Amino acid sequence: MDLKGLELTWLGHAAVRLRTADGTTIYVDPWLTGNPSCPAQEQHPGRADAVYLTHGHGDHFGDTLDLALRLGAEVFCMNEIAGHLSRRGASQVVGLNKGGTVTGPGGVRATMVDAVHSGSIDDDGRIGYGGEPAGWVLTFPGGPVLYHAGDTMIFGDMALIRELWAPEVAFLPIGGHYTMDPPQAARAARLLGVAAVVPIHYGTFPVLAGTPAQLADALAGSGIEVAALVAGVPVGG
Ligand code: NI
Ligand code: MN
Repeated sequence: MDLKGLELTWLGHAAVRLRTADGTTIYVDPWLTGNPSCPAQEQHPGRADAVYLTHGHGDHFGDTLDLALRLGAEVFCMNEIAGHLSRRGASQVVGLNKGGTVTGPGGVRATMVDAVHSGSIDDDGRIGYGGEPAGWVLTFPGGPVLYHAGDTMIFGDMALIRELWAPEVAFLPIGGHYTMDPPQAARAARLLGVAAVVPIHYGTFPVLAGTPAQLADALAGSGIEVAALVAGVPVGG
């Protein structure tokens, strides 16, 4: 997996941290505290410049408010979730919708793309409307193009993501039950034309039973790398 100088750390479940050469620190779906797969030393970070959220479910929204209020992270998310964050005191929130592209800290160009899933947000114990779920294509200046699928089943328009942005590395859920399983994720990787897949959203709970080994089996002979990361251990950089 060629990250072109970008440091990547999987933090368990769908949580990912990306750090550029100048130190800009970016989280996707920062479920840290309460995430059984997130190492204890990663649960209260000291720096976060940006957060990209795929949807409002608690295992993705996670510590977003903490990173926004305590660390001043700028949050990029679905419009309905932006309102939720703003009402809770977050001052740097960019709400958008699918198809939109924004520029975030570090000069990252981020496009919100589709996901086939559901969306809600915990509104002080009630289930609130969180808009539709999404994925992100993140283009790093001088670096790679990454695709974080969020929670989704496979969908044919992943071929359009390939055509329009040509991601090199994809973070794909493989656990099944709430998302794609390994056979779907393997097919998705082929649709996306990526060089490498980082499997996410597996093993956190028993029901998320898909494994990186099953994904590797399903991709045997494809030339697509399965980069199964150890939570909390950075790669690249
Ligand atoms: Ni979800
Ligand atoms: Mn999820």
